[in-house]
Amino acid sequence: MVSKDALVKDVGALIERLQSLAQVVKDRSDACKQDLAASSPERTTSAADSEGALPSSTEKKLRMVSRALNGRLKDTMDALTQLKRIADDALVLSPEDDASADRLRALGAELALARENASDAGLLSEKIPDVPGRAGPDAADVHDADGKRTRARTGEDPDPIDPDLERVLVANAVDVKSIRDVVARLRDNERDVDARAALAREVRSLTSPRAKESNESTPAGIEPAAASDGSSSPTRGSSYSEDNFAYGSTPFATFWRVVQECPALRGAMSRMAKVQQENYGIFMNQRGFQVWGSSSGWLVFYAALGCKVSGVGYELLRCHVDFANGVVMSMLNALSKPPVFIHGDVLEQADCDVMQFPPVVWLTSQCWDQSLKSAVAEKLTAQCEAGALVVDYGEGVGLGDRGGAWERVGTTTAPVSWNPAQTFHVYRRV
Ligand SMILES: C[S@@+](CC[C@H](N)C(=O)[O-])C[C@H]1O[C@@H](n2cnc3c(N)ncnc32)[C@H](O)[C@@H]1O
Repeated sequence: MVSKDALVKDVGALIERLQSLAQVVKDRSDACKQDLAASSPERTTSAADSEGALPSSTEKKLRMVSRALNGRLKDTMDALTQLKRIADDALVLSPEDDASADRLRALGAELALARENASDAGLLSEKIPDVPGRAGPDAADVHDADGKRTRARTGEDPDPIDPDLERVLVANAVDVKSIRDVVARLRDNERDVDARAALAREVRSLTSPRAKESNESTPAGIEPAAASDGSSSPTRGSSYSEDNFAYGSTPFATFWRVVQECPALRGAMSRMAKVQQENYGIFMNQRGFQVWGSSSGWLVFYAALGCKVSGVGYELLRCHVDFANGVVMSMLNALSKPPVFIHGDVLEQADCDVMQFPPVVWLTSQCWDQSLKSAVAEKLTAQCEAGALVVDYGEGVGLGDRGGAWERVGTTTAPVSWNPAQTFHVYRRV
C-alpha cells in the first residue's frame, strides 16, 4: 500500500505542475483581455455604442482563445481545490490508526481519479493556445513596473538572486550566502511532510466554518491551508476562515526591490539599522520593523540579513513561530542582531505606539479575512504617528481609503509565489 508520505509527495507534484501551467494560462488570458480592450475599447465599454460595428477577425480569434483559456483556468482551479483537499486530508492521518489505512487507500484512489480527469480534460498538456497576434514564445511573459519583460514562472528557481543583484548586495556588505542558506531552509520546511501535517492540524484547530466572509478564492501559487472540521478554539483565531492562513512566499529579490524603489522606505530602513547598531539590545528599537503575519519568517529574515534591521514577526500559527525561532537560534553567528518571532494575533500582540521613532510595518494581508483587514487598518490608523510607513500587498487592508490619513509614497510590481506581477504599495501616516 502507498505510504502517507508518498501520497502527499505525489499530490504535491501534481499540484505544482497544475499551478505552473495555470500561471501561463492566466497570463495569456490576461493578455487576450488587454488586447481586446485595446482593439475595440468602445465595444468593451459600451455595447450600445458598438451597434453595427463588426468585430475584426483578430478580435474574433481573441474572443475564442479567451473563452478557451478561461474555461481551462476554471477547470484547473477546481482540480487544484480537490487536490489540495486530498493533500490536507492525508496530512492529518495518524500512521498507527487502522481507520487511517483505509482512509489513505481511499485518498489514493481519489488522487488516481483526479489525475485521470485532469489529463482527460487536457489540464496537464503544455499545449496552451497562443494569444492571437502575439509571438508564441513571448505570449506567457508579463511586464514588471519598468516595462521590462519577465518570464512567467514555470518551474524556475522561485528565489533567484541574479548576478546584478548579487553585485549590489556584496557592495552593500550583505551576507548573500546566509540569505541563500535561510531561503533553502525555509523552502525545505515548506516541503517537509511532518511540517505540513503540523500546519494543517493547527489551521484546522483555529478555523471556523462560518468565517468565510467575502474573501475571494485563493489565487494560484498561494496554498490554501487545511479544510475546516468545525472545531473551534478558545482564542480569537476561531473566528477566522481557512483562507486567512493561506501559505505563500515573497522572494528576497522582491523584498529588496520594494525597499530600494521607495526612497522613504529605504531611508527608514537605513536609519533603523544605524539606530539599532548604536543602541543594541533595546527591544523597543527592534519593534521599529514589524511583519504582521510573518509566516515562517521570510520577510523578517530578509530585513535582518539584507538591511541589517532586526525586527519582530507576529504570527498566529505557532508552528511557523517555533520554526522561525529555531532558525534564529541556529544562525546566531550570521545575525549580529537576532530578530524575534512572537506567537499571537496581531490585533492583540502588535503595537505601533511604543517606539521612539515611526516604525515600518509590513503587512502580509493578501489572503486575510475582510474583518481582519478592516481591524488592522483601524488599529494602524489609531496607533501610528505621522511618518510611520506601512508596506502592503496591493490595496491590502485599505489604508488608501482612510479619509486622507495615509498617503501613498511608493509602488512596486514584482513577483511573489502566487503572482508574477504583484503590486506593493507603501503608505505613510500623514
Ligand atoms: C500570506 S501569509 C504570509 C506569506 C509570506 N510571509 C509572504 O511572503 O507574504 C499570511 C500570514 O498571516 C498569518 N495570519 C493570519 N491572520 C493573522 C493574525 N490575526 N495575526 C497574526 N498572523 C496572522 C497567517 O497565518 C499567514 O502565515
